[in-house]
Amino acid sequence: GPDVFASSVELVRELKRRGVRVGVASSSRNCRLSLELAGLDDLFETRVDGDVSLDLGLKGKPDSDIFTTAAANLGLLPGQCVVVEDAISGVQAGCAGNFGLTLGVARETPGDVLLAHGADLVVRDLGEITVDDMEEWFGQGLERDGWTFGYHGLDPENEKLRETLTTVGNGYLGVRGALETERASEHHYPGTYMAGIFNKIPTPLHGRDIYNNDLVNCPNWLLMEFRVDRGEYVSPMDMEVLSYSHRLHMREAVLERRMVVRDKLGRVTRFVSRRLASMADPHLLCQRLELTPVNWSGRITVRSSLDGNLINDGVARYRQLNQQHLEFVKSGKAAGGVYLEVRTTASGYRVAMCAKHALLDEGRRIHGTRTVHTDRALIGEEITFPAGEGRQYVVEKMVSAFTSRDLDDPRQAAAARLNKARSFRQLHSAHAKAWARLWDKADMVVEGDRLVQRTLRLHAYHLLVTASPHNSRLDAGMPARGLSGEAYRGHIFWDELYILPFYDLRFPEISKALLKYRYERLDGAREYASENGYDGAMFPWQTADGGEEETQEVHYNPKSGDWGPDLSRRQRHVSIAVFFNTWRYVHCTGDWNFMRRYGAELMISIARFWGSIARRDQTTGQWHIDGVMGPDEFHEALPGSDREGLRDNAYTNVMTSWLLERAVDLLDRLSPADRKRVARSSGLLPEEPERWREISRGLHVNLNAQGVIEQFEGYFGLDELDWDAYRAKYGDIHRMDRILKAEGDSPDHYKVAKQADTLMMFYALPPETIVDILGRLGHEVDGAAPLLRRNYEYYEGRTSHGSTLSKVVHALISSYFGDDATAWQWFLEALVSDIHDTQGGTTLEGIHTGVMAGTLDIVTRYFAGVDVTGEHLVIQPHLPEHWTKLSFRICFRGDWYGLRFTPGKVRVELLESFKDAVHLIVAGRRVELTPGRSRSVALDS
Ligand code: BGC
Repeated sequence: GPDVFASSVELVRELKRRGVRVGVASSSRNCRLSLELAGLDDLFETRVDGDVSLDLGLKGKPDSDIFTTAAANLGLLPGQCVVVEDAISGVQAGCAGNFGLTLGVARETPGDVLLAHGADLVVRDLGEITVDDMEEWFGQGLERDGWTFGYHGLDPENEKLRETLTTVGNGYLGVRGALETERASEHHYPGTYMAGIFNKIPTPLHGRDIYNNDLVNCPNWLLMEFRVDRGEYVSPMDMEVLSYSHRLHMREAVLERRMVVRDKLGRVTRFVSRRLASMADPHLLCQRLELTPVNWSGRITVRSSLDGNLINDGVARYRQLNQQHLEFVKSGKAAGGVYLEVRTTASGYRVAMCAKHALLDEGRRIHGTRTVHTDRALIGEEITFPAGEGRQYVVEKMVSAFTSRDLDDPRQAAAARLNKARSFRQLHSAHAKAWARLWDKADMVVEGDRLVQRTLRLHAYHLLVTASPHNSRLDAGMPARGLSGEAYRGHIFWDELYILPFYDLRFPEISKALLKYRYERLDGAREYASENGYDGAMFPWQTADGGEEETQEVHYNPKSGDWGPDLSRRQRHVSIAVFFNTWRYVHCTGDWNFMRRYGAELMISIARFWGSIARRDQTTGQWHIDGVMGPDEFHEALPGSDREGLRDNAYTNVMTSWLLERAVDLLDRLSPADRKRVARSSGLLPEEPERWREISRGLHVNLNAQGVIEQFEGYFGLDELDWDAYRAKYGDIHRMDRILKAEGDSPDHYKVAKQADTLMMFYALPPETIVDILGRLGHEVDGAAPLLRRNYEYYEGRTSHGSTLSKVVHALISSYFGDDATAWQWFLEALVSDIHDTQGGTTLEGIHTGVMAGTLDIVTRYFAGVDVTGEHLVIQPHLPEHWTKLSFRICFRGDWYGLRFTPGKVRVELLESFKDAVHLIVAGRRVELTPGRSRSVALDS
């Protein structure tokens, strides 16, 4: 229309006057004609229209290719461009193409809809925005955007996913980002999880009791319902939602929702809620609810509760199991509010929470009329106040939480702590400062790629929500699914192998706390080894609060509806991970004190286990490891065999060879007194180190004539899977195990891996080290790169990537042999796996801490090219072409470095060090740095 037309042309002319390059991308085939008729064909420097698309084979919107082509024609990167669009598919394309700004023009499509589909800003007419506004966006707007993860508009089907991804927490506890007015239901699942609070209870199943030790869903402290006058308590979700946004402000770790709703009587109410779990004091939580009656007056009652009337109900497939973990102990008035104490039914942990409320009318404190209400394990306050049209009312709910794992009387402690909480503002200020200190170390700044920037921050955020500096005072491990859901029952697996690098280089004290969790369970691991006929310490595949094996014995297949045996506990390689993580922590930090006090005993006890599980074949003289499973959980036994587990899993054997050599080396490095002490505490016999040397040189690993490493003995004899047929039949085949079992078949029969198994050795150790190990095991290979490539090509085609960890491994490994495009694709898949829930329904049950840390590690190890495996830091970056900057800090051997990568250049700065000078290798050059000094090194193109 002429009006729109005039303002658009005016804006384009102004842009051009300021030297901005302008192009047109459109699916229309009449585009050229229209422009000519309007006399505008000279305005645009490039035109990618329907005709051009046809020639180039472009897909068009919602794919971003017409826009990316136009950007490339203008010589610009998408991150430097603005896409202006009035169609849903167009803003989707702008968002998918990672453009610097996607500007929605709400003509036929409402602005809210454009925002929900990815527009950054919306105007009704281009006359409403100026070039200065755009510049503001590229400065402060993008900066804000990089720290904000969230959603515009409601999407009930995905609400549980959103709740998981917007969990708040501080390592002590995690709280799903559920709407405060809701209880558990089809679309909502409030969950509060406290580190180490597990409960193990039986469920009778097929005539026997199945025990599961679950991370307990603790009382829901979020609940705040409201009603008007004498009406019912009505959820705003049952009203007409006029606008809605849900955002996690990551920098200050605050969850915010804004919504405007209209009830059946036409009353419009605006809500703004904010929530935090204090990083300054992990026992304090706060929620602030702002209510504005937009067009009405009346009496509002807010009913705010601590709700212990709940079960673990976050994972649909666990519903057949007994999920009642809490019993009511006591509730009443305390600390100017109310308290609730509950107890876990079997483990007997007591959890106490206290809550008090402040009420404000236009910023002024009022009291309202208050009554206490209770219902078994629920207690709360009903606060009633008269509300006037257009006025703003705020209810602040401050909550404290303690458990009997912290101290003997959690109730008293909670009451005392709550007395220290005065307001959201006061708590927020200390909390934001604590997060600022964490971000100083954790943040990775990426310019030129909004998706990567925001998602990396989200990943670092969730890691710190799961394990923070507060973990030094907690005896809690790193749950694979964070403190954000109930999947995998909150258990701890081997995932620290992927996770600890993030902490080793930024928060070594957190790594230490997580390793101490293992150390504290050394006795359990010793018993476990001995029960299974081995020496030393064998860590269970899954652990919870205690040190026992928590892997379930049966596994439910939702595809077939059957229970089957679960042999995954035979993944003895978890003990390799504990050894490896200890070694790597000490290597990266130089914390020899930790090694002497804890690490050496852990490592030697584990080495004793591997020394005893390995058996020599008297005829061949070779050593074998039997009855194990590799990381590929699809293979539990050889087809037709009645023996559980597999023989000679290559990952296990190669890593054991490395581990036993390291163990011998460690004994040599300990002082005589330390060696004696460690030998005593770990039960080491004098002849064992010699046996370890032999094993590390004699373990059996099979390579075929093409140089492919056999995943385990008998793998090469398995059938090939008809991948195409399964893809055609099922579409999504990442859980091939479930598909095959439901068909009455078994993955044991096929060359099909859930995740990287053989390739995993190259992820853990430098490829050259693998070549050395294979060499001493009797295999001459023609170099690391060809070995890697061959094995990658062989196994990648036979892997269904049923675990997101697999994608992280494949990203790093394809980068090793120089395939940057493939590495980038794997990285992207790993990056979005949680935010897009690419496994289809897993993230709503909890984040995946392994893949989150893995993506941060790929940026460190590959894009920044930071290699910490030697004695000096080595840096050889491979910045993706469209990244204009990457910068972050790391700590290696006690020295803090600031690293900044721009195209063609690396700048390294020694931020803090006790040494006079340090040496590192940057882009092949030796660089010396003194504290406070920086050096820039140009990269050869
Ligand atoms: C993976 C394991 C991992 C576990 C917990 C499983 O799906 O196969 O390797 O330890 O998830 O993240």
